[in-house]
Amino acid sequence: MKTKETIKRKTTDVLIIGSGVAGLTFAIKLAKKRPDLQITIVTKNKIDDSNTKFAQGGIATVWDIEKDNFEKHIADTMDAGDELNDLEAVEMVITEGPKRVRELIEWGARFDKKDNGNLELGKEGGHSENRVLHYKDITGWEVERTLVEMVKSIKNISVHENFFALELITQHHLGRIISKVTPDTKAYGAYVFNKKDLIIETILAKTTVIATGGAGQLYSITTNPEGATGDGIAMVYRAKGRIANMEFVQFHPTALYTKIEESPNFLVSEAVRGHGGILRTEDGEDFMIKYDKRGSLAPRDIVARAIDNEMKVRGVNNVFLDVRHIEKNDFVKHFPNIYEKCLSEGIDPMKDMIPVAPACHYFCGGIVVDKKGKTSIKNLYAAGEATYSGLHGANRLASNSLLEGLVYAHNICENIADEIDEIQINNEIPDWNITSTKEPKEMVLITQSLKEIRDVMGSYVGIVRNNIRLKRAINRILLYYKETEELYKSSVISEQLCELRNLITIAYLVTRSSQNRHESRGLNYNTDYPDKLPYNELTLV
Ligand code: SIN
Repeated sequence: MKTKETIKRKTTDVLIIGSGVAGLTFAIKLAKKRPDLQITIVTKNKIDDSNTKFAQGGIATVWDIEKDNFEKHIADTMDAGDELNDLEAVEMVITEGPKRVRELIEWGARFDKKDNGNLELGKEGGHSENRVLHYKDITGWEVERTLVEMVKSIKNISVHENFFALELITQHHLGRIISKVTPDTKAYGAYVFNKKDLIIETILAKTTVIATGGAGQLYSITTNPEGATGDGIAMVYRAKGRIANMEFVQFHPTALYTKIEESPNFLVSEAVRGHGGILRTEDGEDFMIKYDKRGSLAPRDIVARAIDNEMKVRGVNNVFLDVRHIEKNDFVKHFPNIYEKCLSEGIDPMKDMIPVAPACHYFCGGIVVDKKGKTSIKNLYAAGEATYSGLHGANRLASNSLLEGLVYAHNICENIADEIDEIQINNEIPDWNITSTKEPKEMVLITQSLKEIRDVMGSYVGIVRNNIRLKRAINRILLYYKETEELYKSSVISEQLCELRNLITIAYLVTRSSQNRHESRGLNYNTDYPDKLPYNELTLV
């Protein structure tokens, strides 16, 4: 693969990087509010290739006001987050949530209804009430479908598929030295690798919005699609923006365990447990009762840790999810996709227990944003899984993530619509400096490092951590960093090399953050620091 020498330059009012729920919702809202603005979305694969599409469970929001209220949803979110959440952010998201979900319904999103026409509300781990709006077991697919259709119908949004954002453009590219304490670092757009034409384009924008999602591909067992390589977080870190709480990597307790490895690992939604599914060991023990009085419906960090412990104590690769007591028609109606997938693996959920094991699922830390979605870099906003907004604390409550994407997309839109006219495009930005035209000699240099970094993260920075494991991990990560930077500087740009580079940055951020947190809290469980500290602080890296 060669990068051509020619470089294209584009200017746009707003550049959005990423096309999941946060990026697309923001684009639609801004395009409607300001039809005079030119909005450009770049996305590294196809428009609907995002983590959003893979979300099964649904969107949690207070809907049935006879039984539920904001206080309960706020309390559940704080409890799941082990009280490390930012209470103001939690209150804002939970109270704004129903309005944002209503808009999504007005745009055409379908959610399952009961016979009386009311929405059917599901339950998931850590929720004290039924409040999860869902569409069968493919809610994310339905949300993404709705948003993609809307975006395609709006004239002032242009979408560029197969455009991989490489670096944020800041004053650094004008030769200025930028550090984490530089007070006026500004974003001017991004350098983007056009994967089809093999050229690096300069996209200059008044405002840039990062909505690139998480980095589940850092672990070999993950529910996340191939593209989840933490590109936005890594770019902002390199641009000296603030990143926080990266140690809180959420492992979903129940990915389908298959003998032949598959990637991504198929998710068996937490909604199945909300519908009565019970976690058991092979001999049928309802083991979760030993760990938490909420049993199989305890928050995810507790359930994933309990499964990990049972697997280690018993020397097995999985536990089981038992749904055999659920009536077949009821199960198939609610979980058609899961049912079909199980059958295709030779498992009949009505007769056999479903083998499950934890898999990396969600990053609760990321780019620090305030309630308006502003980052520490001027003219740069971020939303969704790429961010640390304070909503999730040390462990995200199930189905709060699509909600977060919707709410922050709205807030960013309100803010940008007001301030964008004051911002100028910076035309002095140079084009990308091509330093090498050499192909990497052997792809194995990239694929082997990727395999090794995933092994290191799985073995040393997984569900249970300790200081020796973290130290081993950081030593190895620094070596991969050095080798990969050398390769990056001496080779032409390729998607695989850039993704590896970003994943190594994320590995460093997760491991360093975990080393810096001297407590066990939420998803950061370190046997050398078994207690929770009495105060709340961010782990900035
Ligand atoms: C699930 O369906 O279990 C995933 C939902 C989520 O991650 O919030």
